[in-house]
Amino acid sequence: MTGSWATFGADLHLDLSAAVRGGRGLRAALTEALREAARSGRLAPGTRLPSSRTFAADLGIARNTVAEAYGELVAEGWLTARQGSGTRVAERARPRRAAGAVPVRRPARRRGPAYSLVPGSPDLGGFPRAAWLAAARRAVTDAPNDAFGYGVDVRGRVELREALAGYLARARGVYADPDRIVLCSGFSDGLTLIGRMLRARRVREVAVEGYSLDIHRELLTRTGLRTRPLWVDGAGARTPDLGGLGPRTGAVLLTPAHQFPTGAALTPERRTAAVDWARTTGGVILEDDYDGEFRYDRQSVGALQGLDPDRVVYFGTASKSLAPGLRMGWMVVPPDLMEEVLAVKGRVDRSSSALDQLTLAEFIISGAYDRHVRGMRLRYRRRRDQLVAAVAGKVPVSGIAAGLHAVLDLPAGTERALVRAAAWQDLQLEGLVRYRHPDSAMPPREALVVGYGTPSDSTWTPTLAALTAALP
Ligand SMILES: Cc1ncc(COP(=O)(O)O)c(C=O)c1O
Repeated sequence: MTGSWATFGADLHLDLSAAVRGGRGLRAALTEALREAARSGRLAPGTRLPSSRTFAADLGIARNTVAEAYGELVAEGWLTARQGSGTRVAERARPRRAAGAVPVRRPARRRGPAYSLVPGSPDLGGFPRAAWLAAARRAVTDAPNDAFGYGVDVRGRVELREALAGYLARARGVYADPDRIVLCSGFSDGLTLIGRMLRARRVREVAVEGYSLDIHRELLTRTGLRTRPLWVDGAGARTPDLGGLGPRTGAVLLTPAHQFPTGAALTPERRTAAVDWARTTGGVILEDDYDGEFRYDRQSVGALQGLDPDRVVYFGTASKSLAPGLRMGWMVVPPDLMEEVLAVKGRVDRSSSALDQLTLAEFIISGAYDRHVRGMRLRYRRRRDQLVAAVAGKVPVSGIAAGLHAVLDLPAGTERALVRAAAWQDLQLEGLVRYRHPDSAMPPREALVVGYGTPSDSTWTPTLAALTAALP
């Protein structure tokens, strides 16, 4: 005999059958089950229990049985019964630790550094809460019932794919047919999927930028691919070297709009060289357009995908433009690869929330996304200008005026000590060295990768002051 009831916000599941089977009467079983629920805290102090009539009906037992169990527990002090406020779990019925139980110690909460310029995050305080909520409200109100079920299209909701197709064509020069867009949980998820797809076509190696995010290289490695570093300089990755990597290299991962982390824009010649390599070898270009919306000195250069949509998998993400916590990303897949990508993805889309997808679609269509990006662009541009002014005469800033990070070049032999000294001053910094591919033949370069997007507006000024104080 199993019963459950709904109280004011609390659902309690009671299993009386074991006690009854054990030869005890129903009343004793119910009394014990309620006592145990109060003792363990499953029924929180103050919780109002249903009337004996309702509870008896729910459990399919006599009302008297419930009334007697309540009476016994009131007498024991586990419950209180007052005219007008019904029967409640007594305030003193706090959960008690079982004898011998080891108390669970909460890990001591370590205070992080007061200031951080670690790259990789937008200003989380800039998340457009009100506009997002308004979009979510409209999206949920208008959502068809099937949005609440398992997604039947592994590519994700068509509403978002259509909204993105329009936005990407307009803002990033991407050839984007909604049918060829695949939604994913951020770039990392998409990269893993494509890595698995490449492995399935027997690709062994992927070229990556000699300075790049170690976690992305690791994701590729975990799918069974080896990563080969390309030299990176002021013109971006040296794509003319791709041919020299040999036939085992079947793909290249690039950040053409704003090389991460060195900050170069891939020049037109190197864009063309990448596309030529892909066309002659059948290789695939993976374009990580992580911060393409943020360019401050000129109109953003269009995506490389526009040069050859048949050879480029384009990746976009909401992690910089909105927030990494959303875990939303999108890929535009070449027609020839679509079937293989979908085969790897599986039959049902379980990777991201349909309601978030509908909300983002609404956010884009309503113009809120453009407004938000425009606002954040101004904020980040102002910060970058302030950063450049603050370090002028101390260290050179390299990389284009774009994105959420800048590179401050340092004299040889100083990077490590500076990062450490800053940490003592409560400022978290990141050096360029951690992004270097371990197999890279490039001469070592020392620099700071400064994520000026990371601080909140209120901590930006003291963070910048802490940085200038830490510089040589
Ligand atoms: C170079 C680069 N690509 C992509 C991303 C976004 O990754 P995701 O969409 O998985 O959050 C980041 C975020 O830090 C990044 O630095």
